[in-house]
Formats: sequence, C-alpha cells, structure tokens
Amino acid sequence: MKLWGGRFTKPTNELVDEYTASISFDQKLAQYDIQGSLAHVEMLAKCAIIPEADAETIKHGLEVVAQKIEAGEAELTQANEDIHMNVEKLLIDEIGAVGGKLHTGRSRNDQIALDMRLYLRDAVVSLVELVSKLQEALQQQAKQNLDTILPGYTHLQRAQPVLFAHHMMAYVSMFERDADRLIDSFKRINRSPLGAGALAGTTFPIDRHYVAEKLNFDGVVENSLDAVSDRDFVVEFLSNASLLIMHMSRLSEELVQWSSAEFNFIELDDAFCTGSSMMPQKKNPDVAELVRGKTGRVYGNLTAMLTTLKGLPIAYNKDMQEDKEGMFDTVETLKGALALFAPMIESMHVHKENMYQAVAEDFSNATDLADYLVNKDVPFREAHAVVGQVVLHCIEENQYLLDLTMEEFQQFSTSIEEDIYDVLSPKAVVNARDVVGGTAENRVEEQIHQAESRLSER
Ligand code: ARG
Repeated sequence: MKLWGGRFTKPTNELVDEYTASISFDQKLAQYDIQGSLAHVEMLAKCAIIPEADAETIKHGLEVVAQKIEAGEAELTQANEDIHMNVEKLLIDEIGAVGGKLHTGRSRNDQIALDMRLYLRDAVVSLVELVSKLQEALQQQAKQNLDTILPGYTHLQRAQPVLFAHHMMAYVSMFERDADRLIDSFKRINRSPLGAGALAGTTFPIDRHYVAEKLNFDGVVENSLDAVSDRDFVVEFLSNASLLIMHMSRLSEELVQWSSAEFNFIELDDAFCTGSSMMPQKKNPDVAELVRGKTGRVYGNLTAMLTTLKGLPIAYNKDMQEDKEGMFDTVETLKGALALFAPMIESMHVHKENMYQAVAEDFSNATDLADYLVNKDVPFREAHAVVGQVVLHCIEENQYLLDLTMEEFQQFSTSIEEDIYDVLSPKAVVNARDVVGGTAENRVEEQIHQAESRLSER
C-alpha cells in the first residue's frame, strides 16, 4: 500500500505510477534528503513534538538507510514515487512503525524545496572552484604570452594588434563576473524552506530557525507559500550557468578557429583532441566544439524552467517536479566542460611566430599612422582620409605600410617623417595603447596582477 493510500479504494494504474514517479532522477538527492530529515527529527525531539528516544531510533535508522543507498543495497521503487517516500519506506522497513513519526509537521513540498537548495548549494561551491581553475589557466597563458602579438579583430577583420595576454585576460574578466554571479546567488539559495509544510505552515510548535542552523543555512524562507512554490533560485542558477557557458562557447569558437590551418595560431594538446575514423591526418578540437554545442542544452534548460513556472498558481503544483532534471543536467554539463577547459587551456601551444606574421602582413597599424598625423596637428578626419589613400595605394602595389619609402610616404603627407618606422612596428603599436585596460604590455601586466590578487582573495 502507498504511504498516502488511506483515502483510495483502488491501486494506482501502473502507467500513472510510471508517469508520475521521479525516483529515476531524484535519487541523486538521497543524501541531501536524509541530511534534511536528520535535522528535522532532531528539531522534533528538541521541541518535544516526539519523544527523544524515538528521535534517536529514527536518526539511527536514517543513517542505516543512507549507507544502504550509498552502497546500492537499497531498493528504490517507482511504486514509492520519489526519493522522499522511498526513504521513508526504507526507514519504516528498517525500524518499524516509529519511522512513521519522521514526517510529523513536514510535507514533501517543503522537503523537496529543501533538497534542491542543499544540492544546489554544493553544486555552486564546486562550480566556483572550477571557474577559478579556468581563470588560473588563462592567467598562466597570459603570463607566458606578454610578448605575443596577434591581430585583434572586429567583424572578424584584422583591426588593431593586441597582446595574446590581453586577449586571455578578457576571458578572465568574463569568468570572474560569472563566478561573482554564482557567489552572489548563494545567499538566495542558502535559506531553509523547511517548516513551510504543504503550503500554510504546521500546527506543531516547530522551530524553523533551529533546523536552518543545523543545516548551515543563513536563515529561513519566511513566507510558507513562497517557500514551497518558488523556484526562482533554480532559474537564477540556470541563468548564471547560461552566461557562464555562453562565455565558454565564445572561447570555444576562437579555439576552433585558431587551431584551423587557416589561422594556425594555436595547437591544442593531443590529449585534448580526437581523430577521424576515415581521414588519418585529422586532429579535431572536439572538446571545444562540444562545449559550444552543449551551450544549447543549457539555454534549453533555462527556457524550460521559466516556461514551466510561468503559469503556475501558488503554491506547489506537480509541474514543479520538472525542476530537477534540467538543474542536474546543467550542473553536470558545466562541471564536465570546466574540468576539461582548465587543463586544455593550460596545455595549449601558442604559435607566437604565426600570430606575429599575421600582424606583420596586415594594415592593423593604420590607425597608428592616422594618430601620428594627429600628433602633427592634422585633424583626425583628414588624417583618416590620408591614411585610407595610403592603404589603397599599398593594396594596389601589394605592399604594407612599413614597406613604403620616405618619398612614398611624403607623397601622401609631408608631415610624415623618419620616426614613422618606429611608430608603426607591431610592438610600438601595442605599447602605444598605454591607458587603463589597454593592450600595452605594462597595462596588461597590471591587469594580470590585479586579477590574480582578486582571485587569491576569493
Ligand atoms: N516528487 C515531488 C517533486 O519532485 C516531491 C513533492 C511532491 N509533493 C506532492 N504533493 N506530490 O516535486
């Protein structure tokens, strides 16, 4: 018989059992569910709602159940629907009818909200640690590439040269915000819904704060209706996760491009690439591609959760059982992606010479020629037009700016003098961007330094 079977005259249709059960996925919450029950039962005894001796029996029973589940020795069944009722059933099998006192003053509605929060709390901590490792790997590459110059792009057209270190640090900044968002969300996750009951609270003289403290929460979710019906902490997590993987996806795209023969800017380590079943020469950046691909499912999980919640009346509705798989999937997808990305970035070989060659063979120093003229008191707009003419001439002659002779330069502007050759060299062009956050080597060093010190304080 079902734990709630009293008012029923017939067994549940088997298909209904199959359709409504969540045990196939919510068993991931087993240890959290039991952790919550241990705190709840201690509170029941402390508040003299159940006798101390019963609480001890239940606690011991719960520990046995936890071990059995952990060891794969417990039978979790669809007939018992979800993790909460499976645990309760196992407990009663273990210690007898007294196990039935555990659920006093509690509902599965506040219980599941609690389990989700306990799970997500741990997940967020692990994810922040993994993001930190990725930041470290990027910072490491930045430090090793303080003299590596590559073309910076806009519209995927060569624009102005930048340091590879600067490029790496742009991602460090993005991931720093991603980690900050996760850390900030922690205070909203870390509230205990237990004691909200099914929706309205409970008639028993419980102590919600005691349970919250036992479970290391910062406090309770106050309003009982809110506590059981909201999942905004899940939506917030999925949204933070979406931003994080969006940044990883952009980095993936760059890694894929850079490792193509067309760019040949980097080579990913063999340990992080895969081959082709047919083409013997292939070395594919599968990890980066798959992270880019999995971004879709993470966005999908966010959209699904938002959509599930949008029409739900307060308080609990069975629809909300749909909150779990997308959350688990997102946590696992991100853990997998981050765990691979840090060592993949760290072991990435940077082809400094190829990057430099690309800068030497382009017009990404054209802005500097214009700025040079501005410094000689030519109005910027006029300088822009002059340099446009110079570039056009070079394209026609199959030359770059640094190939021009002084006479050729002077045909376009008599303000151009001998010192132009120093100004237009890639290194000079980079180091001329000596403003806060600019790509000059000393500024990038400053960025690395500051990012490292913020990370060490995390
Ligand atoms: N398995 C349910 C869920 O995941 C637990 C809460 C069910 N509550 C209920 N009254 N049916 O949402």
